[in-house]
Amino acid sequence: MGDMLACLRGWHPGLAKAELAALMPDARLEMERSARWVRVHGGSDVRRSEALRIASGLQCFLLDAVVSTTDDGSPEAWLESMAAYVDAYPVEGTVAVRAWKQGSKIPGWSTSELSRQLGGVLFERGYSVDLEAPDHVLALVADGPTASLACGWMEGDGQAAFSNGERKAGERPFFKPVSLDPMLARLAVNMAAGPLERGPVVDPMTGTGGFLIEASLSGRNAIGIDIHSEMVQGANANLLWAHGGNDPEHAAVKRGDATRLPDVLPGEWSGKVAGFVLDPPYGRNSHGSMANDPLLEASLRSARAVAHPEAGFVLILPLHPLAEHTTDGLPLDHPFALLNGEWPDVQRLVTSCGWAPQSVHVERVHRSLSRLILHARCAPQD
Ligand SMILES: C[S@@+](CC[C@H](N)C(=O)[O-])C[C@H]1O[C@@H](n2cnc3c(N)ncnc32)[C@H](O)[C@@H]1O
Repeated sequence: MGDMLACLRGWHPGLAKAELAALMPDARLEMERSARWVRVHGGSDVRRSEALRIASGLQCFLLDAVVSTTDDGSPEAWLESMAAYVDAYPVEGTVAVRAWKQGSKIPGWSTSELSRQLGGVLFERGYSVDLEAPDHVLALVADGPTASLACGWMEGDGQAAFSNGERKAGERPFFKPVSLDPMLARLAVNMAAGPLERGPVVDPMTGTGGFLIEASLSGRNAIGIDIHSEMVQGANANLLWAHGGNDPEHAAVKRGDATRLPDVLPGEWSGKVAGFVLDPPYGRNSHGSMANDPLLEASLRSARAVAHPEAGFVLILPLHPLAEHTTDGLPLDHPFALLNGEWPDVQRLVTSCGWAPQSVHVERVHRSLSRLILHARCAPQD
């Protein structure tokens, strides 16, 4: 089988790419023309279908997609290249064409006209079309910002696994302004923990349970911990709600201290926790049990003590917005202005606790607030 082209959600392509890299550690990812397309070299079928099922930022894969720029080509030449593609990758069963746009229109290139002609190419080759439930979909994605087209047989349905609208934080029985959106929470869990088989997830400061809900719905064993009983009760109610009122056997909320994880987690989880997702308290409204840096340091040290050798964490910190917003990963030595504390101190602290920073991304919350999203992996111990 050829390589795949992953099509990412528009919300935050940089984070979506990092999530995909974490879920498919056996694949090599390479950027394509559009920020929302990634070439996936290698990677097993099992990992790809798991990514389609649980990723937050992935829409679909296109089999060995033809990526073309419209600047120096004509629709006729493009159609010829697609006819050659269809001949090179014959499929069995019924077919349909699906087309969608990313961003603005590409002047002179009508996606509906192109998809009609693609339908003609399939018809000429004797395929029967089933628009309701085709066995195979030939997808055409038109990317306005780069004036390019990607086209190929689609794996997945072109939608991300879920949308924020499905279980809005504000609709949970227990809501606080600190509650994280499901899209970011799911992505952070996947980035931190990687493939499902690696092991369970711990949310050491669970608050209203945003990460815990997504970890459990993605099919992982998960424990959320909070020092305040009000939060423990509230997160429990939210967890139950997210599972349609059924107690999830594989997820739980416990009252405890993030800085003493070995005392709170089941003994058999020691050395097995695949991912930690941390959204520590901050600012005047925080319910922190100690000052920011010492709490973070003790929590990361305690997480390291129970971590799987390939474990990761995702840490979310409030940030003054960047002068120029970007969804690309940023260098670790970028002069980030945290709302609380100094970024170089945080990096030193992370390293001193036995973790190796991997990537930093920034997500814009509103005009005066952004989030820094740090991904780190277990550093090998001496
Ligand atoms: C920013 S909130 C987490 C919000 C969460 N991500 C959500 O979606 O609701 C931080 C939480 O850390 C908890 N916390 C503070 N110190 C703690 C400690 N030492 N151990 C465990 N939880 C702690 C607070 O009670 C608070 O609920």
